[in-house]
Amino acid sequence: MEATATANTNIALIKYWGKRNSDLNLPAVGSISVTLKELYTTTTIQFSPEFKFDSLFLNGQKADQKKIDRISRFLDMIREKSKIPHRAEVKSNNNFPTGAGLASSASGFAALTVAASKAAGLDLSEKELSILARRGSGSAARSIFGGFVEMNVGEKQDGSDSYATQLADENYWPLYLLIVITSEQEKQIGSTQGMNLTAETSPYYHNWVQSSEKDLTKMRKIIQERNFEKLGQLSEYSCLKMHGLAMSANPGIIYWNGTSVEVIHKIRELRQNNILVYFTIDAGPQVKVICEPNNLNIIKEELEKINGIKNIFVTSLGSGAKLIGREKIEYSN
Ligand code: DP6
Repeated sequence: MEATATANTNIALIKYWGKRNSDLNLPAVGSISVTLKELYTTTTIQFSPEFKFDSLFLNGQKADQKKIDRISRFLDMIREKSKIPHRAEVKSNNNFPTGAGLASSASGFAALTVAASKAAGLDLSEKELSILARRGSGSAARSIFGGFVEMNVGEKQDGSDSYATQLADENYWPLYLLIVITSEQEKQIGSTQGMNLTAETSPYYHNWVQSSEKDLTKMRKIIQERNFEKLGQLSEYSCLKMHGLAMSANPGIIYWNGTSVEVIHKIRELRQNNILVYFTIDAGPQVKVICEPNNLNIIKEELEKINGIKNIFVTSLGSGAKLIGREKIEYSN
């Protein structure tokens, strides 16, 4: 009744923002992401009749009650499916520094899904794992897979067709991402809260949902053709469309800080100098910069000149979530 799994985080190129059902966590739009090799979560779970409560340790620290409750609700689904009634102890470690302000719910819930289902003796397909991970966090459904991944919006009320599938594996197209850390503070408005406020108050929300299929269709084709310029352009477009939408909520949601904006302008300046480089940003101030291997060093050098940047992580594309032996766990507190 114990298992350990690891899952990489992912970055959406075509963004998920909005839910059609909050209880089942069904997205209002599909999304397309890339899974990142160097940023991952390793999670060990043990179910035991000895435990009176679920407990959670994040990077060696006892987690707050709100986080434990979220995990508990998730584990209830595993308990229901497996008929194992026991409480669990969960130990989860991110290999990226705590407080880097990087979203960890994607890798966190993907690793927990794989570890918890194994520990409870469930033998689930990747599709079933993705559906389960979605209940923890929408973006986690994508981290079950490596490389280029599409989250299908689905139509069914019960969410049985709302899961991710792999479009191409991590070796298909050698791209790099630079994760530019511009703040080490925890974000003010979480994605769930931000999405709900946007859906309730933005006058543009309907158009966002309506126009999403077009972006997904284009991106699938671009990935098939391996056209980097088009991939970058469309990723930036989807990112700015999502942030413009969030800003149009009431009160408007602004995830960027001054340095995020400086990085955006720097990327565009580099492009004017014929360096193919693009950005995308999730629900926070960190900027994810996308490039091909030949330009990686020059881009990193140029970005390092910006004063407000705290750190830059470089990563290629990585694989899907998997079970690992205990001996392989890396703890990096
Ligand atoms: C901006 O997956 O964190 O990163 O389903 O409510 O847990 P919940 O949301 P989450 O949202 C991610 C939003 C995003 C875009 C994306 O990853 O597609």
